[in-house]
Amino acid sequence: MPGRKKVYVTRELPEKAMETLESRFEVEVWRDEMPPPKSILMEKVKQADGLICLLTEKIDREVIEAAGPQLLGISQVAVGFDNIDLEAATEKGIYVTNTPGVLTETTADYAFALLMAVARRIAEADRYVKAGRWRVPWGLMMLLGQDVWGKTIGIIGMGRIGSAVARRAKGMNMRILYYDLVRREKLEKELDAEYVDLETLLRESDFVTIHVPLSPSTRHLINEERLRLMKRTACLINTSRGPVVDEKALYKALKEGWIWAAGLDVWEEEPTSPDNPLLKLDNVTASPHIASGSIETRTKMALMAVENMTAILEGRVPPNLVNREVLKVRPPSS
Ligand code: GLV
Repeated sequence: MPGRKKVYVTRELPEKAMETLESRFEVEVWRDEMPPPKSILMEKVKQADGLICLLTEKIDREVIEAAGPQLLGISQVAVGFDNIDLEAATEKGIYVTNTPGVLTETTADYAFALLMAVARRIAEADRYVKAGRWRVPWGLMMLLGQDVWGKTIGIIGMGRIGSAVARRAKGMNMRILYYDLVRREKLEKELDAEYVDLETLLRESDFVTIHVPLSPSTRHLINEERLRLMKRTACLINTSRGPVVDEKALYKALKEGWIWAAGLDVWEEEPTSPDNPLLKLDNVTASPHIASGSIETRTKMALMAVENMTAILEGRVPPNLVNREVLKVRPPSS
C-alpha cells in the first residue's frame, strides 16, 4: 500500500504483535535468529520511518547518524535500553521507547526462582541425578543448601522489579534491606524494608539480588572490594545486566569461597563463551538471559513496542518515551 510508513524489525515478534504491526505499516523483518549485523542496521535506518529492536542490537551513534531524516523512532522490546545511544537519538529528534511494567512480575518470579535454586542447589541436584551419581539412598549430608525462609535479602535497586522481588521476600518472612539512589519511604512501610548503604547491605545479607540498570555508574558496581564484604555463606543473584558484576572478581570470590554461590541470568558478554571459567563452577547456576521470558510476557512486551511505535509514527507522544528531552528537539505533531 503506498504511503504507509515503513518499520524495520530486527527479529520476528510473537504472532499477535506481527499481525498488529503489519495491519498498520509496511513491515520488513530480519528473519535470522542472530541479530542483524551493524552494516544491515545502518542500511535499513536510511529508509525506515521506525525501528523496532531488541537489546542485542547495538544502536550506537554511528547507526543513529546513518539514519535518514525520516527515522522518527526506535522502539525497544525490553525495559533496559543501555544498548541505545540516547544522547545521539535525542540530538537527531528520534524518539526512543521501552517496555516497562509488563515484565516486572515475570522478572521478579525468575529472580526469586533463581535465588531459591541457588540456595537449594537445584540445578546441581538435577545434574547429579541425571549423571547417575545418586548412589546412597538418602544422604544426611547430601547436597546441603542454605535456608531461605526468615533470612536477610539485600536488594540493590528498589525500582519496579526490585520492589516486586521484595514482595516475594516478605512472603518468605525475610528481613529486607535495600540500597538505591533514592529512598522509597512508602515501600519501606509496606514491605518492612530497611534502607541501608551498599556496604551494610553487602555485609548483612544472606542473598544479594541486583535490579539496577546498566550505566557508567553501575558498571562493575559489584567488584572485588565489595564481594569481599559479603558473608561467606551469601548468594549473589543477577538478573539485571551482566556488566554490573565484575566476572573476574566474582570467579575469584566463588572459587576461593569468599561467597557461597551465584545465580547468573546475565553476563558481561552475551552469549557468554562456553569457556567462561564461571561455567566450570558447581556453585554457579547459569541461564541465558531469560528472566522476562514467559510466553505471556514476551507477547505483552512486543505488543507494547508496537503501540509505542504506532504512537510515534502517528505523531503522538508514545506511552513509554525514555528520552523526554527529545520533545524539545522534535515536538509531537498531533
Ligand atoms: C531484559 O533484560 C529487559 O531489559 O527487558
